[in-house]
Amino acid sequence: MAVQINPSILSADFARLADEAQAVKGADWLHVDVMDNHFVPNLTLGVPIVESLIKATDTPLDCHLMIEDPDRWAPQYAEVGAGSVTFHAEAAHAPVRLAREIRAKGARASMALKPATPIEPFEDLLPELDMLLIMTVEPGFGGQSFLDIMLPKIRRTRELISRHNLPLWLQVDGGVSAETIERCAEAGADVFVAGSAVYGTDDPAAAVRSLRAQAEATTARAPWACAH
Ligand code: DX5
Ligand code: ZN
Repeated sequence: MAVQINPSILSADFARLADEAQAVKGADWLHVDVMDNHFVPNLTLGVPIVESLIKATDTPLDCHLMIEDPDRWAPQYAEVGAGSVTFHAEAAHAPVRLAREIRAKGARASMALKPATPIEPFEDLLPELDMLLIMTVEPGFGGQSFLDIMLPKIRRTRELISRHNLPLWLQVDGGVSAETIERCAEAGADVFVAGSAVYGTDDPAAAVRSLRAQAEATTARAPWACAH
């Protein structure tokens, strides 16, 4: 699986979202953080803005829903055209049914784990998913420090993916930057969300290129990737 870089618009200027999407041309996906002020202590945007953003950019949207009751709300994001919809394991009541519904509506189905949520109870569920998101900060805000203590979970998840020979993508989100992306890639991540490390720079497109180069170089030497 090729490395993918997904800039998070949480660190962009919300009044100029269409321009900010253009500013990261070359990115694989635009990462859109939906927060409801209940699942996390922050409030961002919902379906109407996602719908407008889809019309304003050719880059597919990777919607990360940090909301309660995703069983009720997540399918709408697939319906309006998000390419990938991520719900949180901690919030979903029936994750298998929800993942199937998202896929049936034409989007990739993805599940996220907060830092304290282990991967092991979800091993049997992985074939139902197109991507697994391991949070490397507590969800809610951009610009936090990367949690190195998540690296063993990334490694264990990569082992599960390899053992079951699954086409699952492994995304990391939170504190991913030039300083930390190589550790993530070495541990087994292949999809990298970066907010402040992209939009906090003068040239967001160059930041995407440089993060990609770092992740690709590390992946090329990573034992987990060489085995394939
Ligand atoms: C945090 C969000 C992230 C956030 C990452 O809860 O899920 O997507 O935008 O921001 P950085 O890359 O600045 O940590
Ligand atoms: Zn996110």
